[in-house]
Amino acid sequence: MKKNILFTPGPTPIPPEVIEAMSQPIIPHRQQEFKDLFKDVCTKLKYTFQTEREVFVITGSGTAGMETSVCNLFSAGDKILVADAGKFGRRWAEIGNAFGLEVIDMNGEWGVETNQDELNRLLISNKNIKGVFLTHCESSTGVTNDIRKLSGIVRSSSDCLIIVDAISSLAGEELRMDEWGLDVVVSASQKGLMTPPGLAFVALSENATMRLQKSNLPKYYFNLNKSIESQRNFLTPWTPATTLIVGLNAALNIIEKTRLEKIWERNKKYSQLIRESCSEIGFKIFSKNPSNIITAFQIPGGVQPTNFLKFMKENFGVIFAGGQGPLINKIFRISNTGYISNDQVVFMLDSLKAGLLQFNPLNSKMP
Ligand SMILES: Cc1ncc(COP(=O)(O)O)c(C=O)c1O
Repeated sequence: MKKNILFTPGPTPIPPEVIEAMSQPIIPHRQQEFKDLFKDVCTKLKYTFQTEREVFVITGSGTAGMETSVCNLFSAGDKILVADAGKFGRRWAEIGNAFGLEVIDMNGEWGVETNQDELNRLLISNKNIKGVFLTHCESSTGVTNDIRKLSGIVRSSSDCLIIVDAISSLAGEELRMDEWGLDVVVSASQKGLMTPPGLAFVALSENATMRLQKSNLPKYYFNLNKSIESQRNFLTPWTPATTLIVGLNAALNIIEKTRLEKIWERNKKYSQLIRESCSEIGFKIFSKNPSNIITAFQIPGGVQPTNFLKFMKENFGVIFAGGQGPLINKIFRISNTGYISNDQVVFMLDSLKAGLLQFNPLNSKMP
């Protein structure tokens, strides 16, 4: 089998320790052995989220965590404000609409960070907002928002819940749930947590936990009241994705051993190198506020990203992500989060240089 290197913003490459852990015989989820492991995982998740609060583990992708946050904390007709400037910010608005919430959608420019003045203005001019939904790293555009600052802006005029999508950023970019006053942080297994897709995580502040009783939106599988009860005994309400949790345990050990500060610093260095090297060979950085984990580029000379990415995969075994939504075939994205080494970044940058020289748009067939 040809071995490719993933520079995609999730799934990201999996460390051998995680693969090995997941290849061990299955542990039944009601046995003490699994409970002990799950207890350990829950503790280590707190470190990764930088919180003293409980982090709930849900079987499903990141969107399951987003939906869980909405349907457990709000009631029909509640007014929410969504700082949307990309595909994933938009998802908050879509979920809110699906549950009958009154959504004020900032509908920001793609590639630009959340407009702080506009956020402030909307909070002041709209009374009774029950929640503000933010996206830490908007993976579709490669923008990282200053969550600490945005949280401060919300707090200066409102005591509503602050909900953050950290699906691509957790364990990749600096994020401190408790210190920054965040009420809900959502993430997933397949990015900075270096585990295959299939687990979502939702961490709740005390304030958010109190709201669980008030929500009247329909829910069953994602009912966090059931998770609270079970997780107290280091169980989950339903059969969990045991193999993924075993893998996650190994990944969290690596994160704990490496320390978050070191990972954040490493990603900053990688992304700086990627931005500098790619700019030198003519790629144009798309985002005005580029993230430390995903960089979006436009390709010079009218080259179609779809064809170029296919060429790079076939000839160099490096896999990037294309654009999404209105950015399909306009940009491509390089992720440097997760289990990626210095050597791999250097190889990838050399490959891009060589690829750009060798790629002949006239000979490439549309996939
Ligand atoms: C920032 C962000 N939010 C939400 C999602 C959706 O997560 P999932 O595809 O795991 O449901 C993603 C996935 O790429 C993401 O990067």
